[in-house]
Amino acid sequence: MSDELLRVDGLHVSYGRVRAVRDVSFTAPRGELISLVGANGAGKSSVLGAVSGLVRPKSGTVHYDGANITRWPAHRRVAAGMVLVPEGRQILTTLTVAENLLLGGWRRRRAAATIAEMYELFPVLAQRRDLSAGTLSGGEQQMLAIARAMVAQPRVLLMDEPSMGLSPKLVDEVFRVIETIRATGVTIVLVEQNARRALRAADTGYVLETGVVSHSGPAPRLLADRRVVDAYLGG
Ligand SMILES: Nc1ncnc2c1ncn2[C@@H]1O[C@H](COP(=O)(O)OP(=O)(O)O)[C@@H](O)[C@H]1O
Ligand SMILES: [Mg+2]
Repeated sequence: MSDELLRVDGLHVSYGRVRAVRDVSFTAPRGELISLVGANGAGKSSVLGAVSGLVRPKSGTVHYDGANITRWPAHRRVAAGMVLVPEGRQILTTLTVAENLLLGGWRRRRAAATIAEMYELFPVLAQRRDLSAGTLSGGEQQMLAIARAMVAQPRVLLMDEPSMGLSPKLVDEVFRVIETIRATGVTIVLVEQNARRALRAADTGYVLETGVVSHSGPAPRLLADRRVVDAYLGG
């Protein structure tokens, strides 16, 4: 058994003539947190789209747990434990909090038990379980999006900008939750514009610049790298 749960090799994603992702490769070792950081438009969501099966790559491969899953449909990847927390939450605002969580657990055994665990991890969701999700604050909606993904019992969690649009206090809370999830052994691929914050949480980091990996390595090394700091971390 390889210690890599996820491996992406030579990924290219294009939208018509827009070459969004060019020759991107990375690995996510089991139980680790890796982060893809980069500015708006760098190609981060396109990478996660290709990994989760929502975007068809032009070329390149995705291996998961030793299998080449490049052509698997998205639902098969979810069934195998690869779950996306999409950019912008994408919760169903007219359904209740509880209904959103149930959707995360459809076809999962022990879904009720996992939902109960999520209410413990996110007491605010327990308090609001019968309210429509649209009444939640932005921070609460992000917690719901993360909790819903956890109800799907991921082995690898793909998180697309979970801290986007949140106040500093809520950003802290989101990163605490990410640490808690990581401590349970879930492998995490964290995509963030908040590069400094994401790299502090990560084992390994990849800097994406207009579709290309410009820097990569152990996250502490990137945080100490003058070129990375000057170009991406605001001095
Ligand atoms: N559906 C799409 N159609 C056309 N261009 C797209 C589409 N999605 C993303 N792009 C373009 O691809 C590039 C990468 O976008 P994206 O992956 O969303 O970057 P990020 O998530 O880092 O902000 C950008 O130039 C963006 O405008
Ligand atoms: Mg994005």
